[in-house]
Amino acid sequence: MSKPIILGLSASLRAARSKAGAKNLAAEITALPSRERLDDFLGEQAKIHLDQFVEAGRKDGLPFDQIYRRLQKTEGLRGLSNSEITLAAALWGVCDQAGDINHIALSNHFRADGTVADLEALKQALIAADGILLSTPVYFGDRGSLSQRLIEMIRADDGLQKALAGKVYGGLAVGAKRNGGQETTLIYQMLDMLDIGLLGVGNDSDTTAQYGGTTHAGDIGTSPKDSYGINTSIGTGRRIARVAAELGAGKQAELSDLPRLGVWLLQDRGAEMAARLAPFLDSANADVSLLNPVGRKIRPCIACDICPTHIGPDEEYRCIIGRRDDAMKDLHDSLLTPDILLPALFSPKRRDGLVSVYQEFMERTRYLRRGDYVFTDRLVAPLIFAELGSGEHLDVRVMTSFIRHHTVMCRPITGWLKDGKLINAEDVEDGIARAVANGRRLTAGRLASSSLELTGTQYRPVGYVLAQAKDNEAQAMNAREEAVDMRRKRLAEEARRRLAPVRGSSKLGAA
Ligand SMILES: Cc1cc2nc3c(=O)[nH]c(=O)nc-3n(C[C@H](O)[C@H](O)[C@H](O)COP(=O)(O)O)c2cc1C
Repeated sequence: MSKPIILGLSASLRAARSKAGAKNLAAEITALPSRERLDDFLGEQAKIHLDQFVEAGRKDGLPFDQIYRRLQKTEGLRGLSNSEITLAAALWGVCDQAGDINHIALSNHFRADGTVADLEALKQALIAADGILLSTPVYFGDRGSLSQRLIEMIRADDGLQKALAGKVYGGLAVGAKRNGGQETTLIYQMLDMLDIGLLGVGNDSDTTAQYGGTTHAGDIGTSPKDSYGINTSIGTGRRIARVAAELGAGKQAELSDLPRLGVWLLQDRGAEMAARLAPFLDSANADVSLLNPVGRKIRPCIACDICPTHIGPDEEYRCIIGRRDDAMKDLHDSLLTPDILLPALFSPKRRDGLVSVYQEFMERTRYLRRGDYVFTDRLVAPLIFAELGSGEHLDVRVMTSFIRHHTVMCRPITGWLKDGKLINAEDVEDGIARAVANGRRLTAGRLASSSLELTGTQYRPVGYVLAQAKDNEAQAMNAREEAVDMRRKRLAEEARRRLAPVRGSSKLGAA
């Protein structure tokens, strides 16, 4: 399997690296043989950047604009700003997961005076990459202007958008405050990237699968101190490399059957959404299963401290709530089979008659996340039918919750309703076709890579001391090994069954 190429883009407005210094960064990171060396490197580079500021005038109490101008005249060969450090950590994570890396400082292409430089080189680097990591400082709870200029550049270029469609994206954000908006920045940025056509991933299961790298650092030179942030950044690098490798393998492998499309209808009125969806699902090039628990009872999660109740195989329902009137146990088997998940919700303006099990359902999937990320690497696209002005933002909420299942996000599909009429049926059709095509490739690649076991996906109960202690018991460790082994065997068996032999290339599926 060929190595994926991941391009790291730095959107720092006080970047230490420019031109040759930015280019060399990838080689410097690739040469770091261990996590210890990475930590040393990040510490050294942060200090160099701080020293450069001191030398450029901080020691003489010069105003920042003068320091800034002096620094811009230097060669930009050494040091790293906070968001560059976060990016460097993520790129090291890519190398750790056997990916190749490249680095570009966006400040080299988008100048402060509003002009641009050598955009063609930037576009070619984007096109050549299999995945894109974008690291930005948090400004007012959102991205910085360099990140925005990049996104605008892509939006304005249809050819580039087409070339980027189906590549994978991961985000990194650095803010001065602990809750300064790192997550909002990552969520908004991911929404843009999905809209452009990329597939989105967060940080990996080892760092508890959230929205990407979240570093807490304000002053120059401080980000290496935030080991949690550095870890989530490394985890984002590992995650994007893994998914890019699977998507690469998916280009060489082919499913012999149709991809399994699971449509989970979680909010509806009467059977309005079900009826509106039917023609789209009939024409989808997929093996469609519609799960419709609306009208059944799904009890709220009781937030137990032993979720799942024990370590066991995915096939076993392991939520503590087993009441007969509760639908989750019955749904369990059907939740495991789809390759592509479309959580489907109806969002009308007037709410009478609307029935929603969405939030309860979402809560109750906790045992599947904590059961070592059962939905790992499944493609997810929110599917919303919304009346104009309903104002619910369900696409964002579905994305925000489902990415924490260690999934791969695809552009949300929204059908807009005006006066009872669907006004963009073509978009819905295209959106489902896009999800199916991407899901097909990801599934083929996931199955083809099953024998390689890129990394295990173990739930790590960060923030839960009791669960952590339970997890470390010898009995639990054995049970986990058994469960992981079962999952691996099932995946290998599925690969044998579902992958078509590809003429003229090695049999990736033969585990
Ligand atoms: C205009 C501006 C707005 C900022 N807004 C936020 C914010 O909303 N939340 C936050 O935590 N930090 C905020 N910061 C702090 C930066 O995100 C932080 O200093 C970061 O480390 C900068 O990264 P860099 O060293 O790569 O430039 C802001 C900084 C500036 C200059």
